[in-house]
Amino acid sequence: MGFYTEEQWLQWIDALAEQDYVVIDSFFSEDMLSEILDFFVQKRAEDDFEKASIGVQAQVISEIRGDYTFWLDRQRDTALKPFFELITESIEKLNRYCYLSLSDYEFHLAYYPPKTYYKKHLDQFRERSNRMISFIIYLNEDWTPGDGGELKIYKKDGEDIVAPLLNRAVLFKSADVPHEVLLTHKGRASLTGWLLYQPQVLGGILA
Ligand code: OGA
Ligand code: MN
Repeated sequence: MGFYTEEQWLQWIDALAEQDYVVIDSFFSEDMLSEILDFFVQKRAEDDFEKASIGVQAQVISEIRGDYTFWLDRQRDTALKPFFELITESIEKLNRYCYLSLSDYEFHLAYYPPKTYYKKHLDQFRERSNRMISFIIYLNEDWTPGDGGELKIYKKDGEDIVAPLLNRAVLFKSADVPHEVLLTHKGRASLTGWLLYQPQVLGGILA
């Protein structure tokens, strides 16, 4: 018993394989979404977020990215157990239908304060290349055009703009899709992560 049918997974994975990215609206069930929103509010209230850094040397470069993150831990963050199970199912389906060898994941909550952005980049670093699939779910309850903070995706033949709408998931190939977060005028929330080729700890040690 999975979260989604084989047909549904196949449709998403086909789109990902063909266009290098896929947008999935209403990704979480209502229950899972409200658990995640509650968790996000709680961690923000506890002031658990840290200024995000870049690359394995963990430099903080505000001119490149302005978000604050809170890394999840599946052992500690038991309130998110269903979410971790859904990610495990995603990995199983991608391995089966996309012939990937994914074996782990890493996710963080991300908060972009007003007037921040993340300049054009790839999610694989030269020093560390085990991020295969980038996986973002937006948590902005009443985003409207003009709020900014859209995801801009660079393709061979142009660019696409994705609005960071509540419960919208975006998956893309980490090595192949340059992207950026446009200037946001309002606080911008997401759950962002990567499906990994090697276990996280190995990636870290080898990096
Ligand atoms: C990232 C990133 C995009 C987004 O965290 O690496 O590119 O839309 N995020 O939040
Ligand atoms: Mn990125």
